[in-house]
Amino acid sequence: MLKDRCPILQFSDLGDERGKLVVLEGKRNIPIPIKRVFYIYGSDDTVVRGQHANRESEFVLINVAGESKVRITDGTEEFIVELNKPMMGVYIPRMIWKDMYDFSADSVLLVLASTYYDAKEYIRDFEEYLKEMNEAAPNV
Ligand code: TYD
Repeated sequence: MLKDRCPILQFSDLGDERGKLVVLEGKRNIPIPIKRVFYIYGSDDTVVRGQHANRESEFVLINVAGESKVRITDGTEEFIVELNKPMMGVYIPRMIWKDMYDFSADSVLLVLASTYYDAKEYIRDFEEYLKEMNEAAPNV
């Protein structure tokens, strides 16, 4: 099941009466070594971001503020995760296609990546992605 390969991660709240605190540690509660962090904000419900698969990178997506949705597919199965809590994330392994959309105005989507940025490891054409997936594991 694709869902099993892309688990939802629940983080503990170490907060107290002063407010909440969530800790993310690579290879501890985050199942990847964290080499890169970026965040997406100022998007809205009219745009679709992502629209790519990565040959090398693994990601964890967390909406640290606001909310968004991510549609995850391997070309065969598909499911949608609603990222709407700073205490949850979703792990996305290599060679999985993702689209992020329905951003609330206050959405800040934090992305943890296992690699430094390399444009060459992105597949941005869905037909090309399906072709590579089919070559890797043909649907006979
Ligand atoms: P893009 O991959 O289109 O963003 P998204 O996944 O949200 O759709 O990236 C937008 C631009 O930023 C593009 O020119 C590549 C650049 N970029 C970097 O230079 N480093 C990075 O780590 C990322 C994620 C993007």
